[in-house]
Amino acid sequence: MTSRKILVTSALPYANGHIHIGHLVEYIQTDIWVRFQKLRGHRCIYVCADDTHGTAIMIRARKEGRSEEEVIADMREAHIRDFAAFDVEFDNYGSTNSEENRQYCHRMWSEIRKAGLVKEKDVEQLYDPVAGTFLADRFVRGTCPKCKSPDQPGDNCSKCGTTYTPAELIDPKSEHSGATPEIRVAKHLFIELEKIHSFLNEWTQSGEHLQPEVANYLKGHFLGDDLRDWDISRPAPYFGFEIPDSPGNYWYVWFDAPIGYIASTTQWCNNNGENVDDWWNADSDAEIHHFIGKDITYFHTLFWPGMLKTAGCKLPEKVHIHGFLTVAGEKMSKSKGTFVMASTYAKHLPSGVLRYYYASKLGSGLDDIDLNLEEFVAKINSDLVGKVVNLASRSAKFVSGATLSEAYPDDGGLFAAAAAKGEELAALYEACNYNAAMREIMALADKANKYVEDTEPWVLRKDPTKADELRDACTVALNLFRQIVVYLAPVLPELAKQTEALLNKPISSWDESQSPLTGTSVSEFHHLMKRIDDKQVQQMIEESKEDNAADAGETAAVEFHAADTWKDAGDALGNEPLAEECTIDDFVKVDLRVARIIEANHVEGANKLLQLTLSLGGGETRNVFAGIKAAYDPETLVGRLVICVANLKPRQMKFGLSQGMVCASGGGGKEVFLLSPDDGAVPGQRVH
Ligand code: 2FM
Ligand code: ZN
Repeated sequence: MTSRKILVTSALPYANGHIHIGHLVEYIQTDIWVRFQKLRGHRCIYVCADDTHGTAIMIRARKEGRSEEEVIADMREAHIRDFAAFDVEFDNYGSTNSEENRQYCHRMWSEIRKAGLVKEKDVEQLYDPVAGTFLADRFVRGTCPKCKSPDQPGDNCSKCGTTYTPAELIDPKSEHSGATPEIRVAKHLFIELEKIHSFLNEWTQSGEHLQPEVANYLKGHFLGDDLRDWDISRPAPYFGFEIPDSPGNYWYVWFDAPIGYIASTTQWCNNNGENVDDWWNADSDAEIHHFIGKDITYFHTLFWPGMLKTAGCKLPEKVHIHGFLTVAGEKMSKSKGTFVMASTYAKHLPSGVLRYYYASKLGSGLDDIDLNLEEFVAKINSDLVGKVVNLASRSAKFVSGATLSEAYPDDGGLFAAAAAKGEELAALYEACNYNAAMREIMALADKANKYVEDTEPWVLRKDPTKADELRDACTVALNLFRQIVVYLAPVLPELAKQTEALLNKPISSWDESQSPLTGTSVSEFHHLMKRIDDKQVQQMIEESKEDNAADAGETAAVEFHAADTWKDAGDALGNEPLAEECTIDDFVKVDLRVARIIEANHVEGANKLLQLTLSLGGGETRNVFAGIKAAYDPETLVGRLVICVANLKPRQMKFGLSQGMVCASGGGGKEVFLLSPDDGAVPGQRVH
């Protein structure tokens, strides 16, 4: 087998947030792949970095009264600690705010300029006069110019699907300060991607670099039309690198972020006496593999190859794209405690088992993977503790302090059969088909366990005349165990280390799976892995709920400054002081639900009431009389979502049975304001 030279990256995490279990899918997926390549004897380096630039960091630094550099330095420390806790081992962890990155940005930029791909255009952009910054589309919300739905994002309407520019929104508001943005015209620099359209067609559709579904998606969504110019500059103030030939303008974060891959490689090269051009120049003999999530496909499969090609750099051999993590079939939720930070997880559960669980779920496609917490506990206990580690715990103690048999005993062909699986398993790892690999490995573990059950070392040891038989049985069991550990080593590096210590032989190559150990000494047996318990999972979930409550407190403290901007009067609070403290238990007794008003009518003889029919979804409805007649015209209510008290004891009123309440604020009369959930909420959802 010839040795390959491989450079691997994972997406650079933003420096404005902590690592959570959703991020870990990718870092674990990549780390497994890297460890596998190293075990196969290839030269493989794994580089990553913090993605530090952009408006979000700038605003955060201001709110915290610190410099951007201080914010990113703290976050870097936290990221490095979190990755280490999960055995994600980078060869270099850099930063996009580094000198190496600035220099490579200059170099690529001048090549892109030379190729004639840059043009200047005036752009109307919203500017937040309170925050003193231009606003990215996602930081503006307002009313859709087409269907007039309120609170829509700055680029397209979630209700009617219309796309528009943020400047077209009615009554736009800045997400940073709540101020009404002004329109300002600024010069932006654009890269004309259309000029490299034919190259992108060829590269994306060659069948070599992308998963087939990704190639088809690009063809169907982008490559069929002219490619739009890519806006790669932002006017000051912006935390990033100033563009050398365009003073006052900064590269947009997505321009310098992927160049961070090269900058991090440069740092590694400088520390290891190598030259970055040997990895990244077009004529390099390295294979470059990017691992990313499906949300950033466009950047990595169109912009990035386009930039690399234009600048004479090496193109990726493959961009490996994965899906998102769901927990119990849903998006991770802060209120449900399933938005789990890496550091919170690590306090309650061992990291290796999450690596195994993710591996058992990850295939080579883009499907989302689900963390089902009951299945997680059951799988770890049955596969890792019950099948794998059990092989050693039922045999090692009988030969601890002694040696394995001098010749490998007859095992009915088990070791040889499992060794013959080596290439098939390697192909599965190579293709990122980890779930299939885990299934195959567990099938080997089943066969090995059958051997142990049939030979019963614990019975043999009671009979002194069977000492040789016992040693042979343990020799087979421990070799089958070690062979499985070699196959699992990319996923479970900790278990591999423990096994090295137990059997006094390094696991530094995949080939260690091919021949059994004989005559080597066996160390004292220590437990390799403990069962995990539902309780640990529950504690992790509870702590995640608390983390979230603490976050909300943090936000409230920050918002307090912002209150000065809003000049909100204290009248409402003064007129109706806060109620007596209640407990969470008191609160959860009230079952608040999202509901849709499907009918709204005047009520004959009632001055204040409207009759509403609320749908909770699935045909479940409630009849409610609400005192909102002075404030709302019934026709305008039909179709909108509200929050209702769904478990209120029904009350017989003069006009009929009222089966709940809709939530509203205000003092009454015309001053009544119905509460609505944000976009995306659906009838029947509980409000927590
Ligand atoms: O989506 C993200 O989290 C980005 N920070 C990823 C950047 S990857 C690369 F291009 F730098
Ligand atoms: Zn609309």
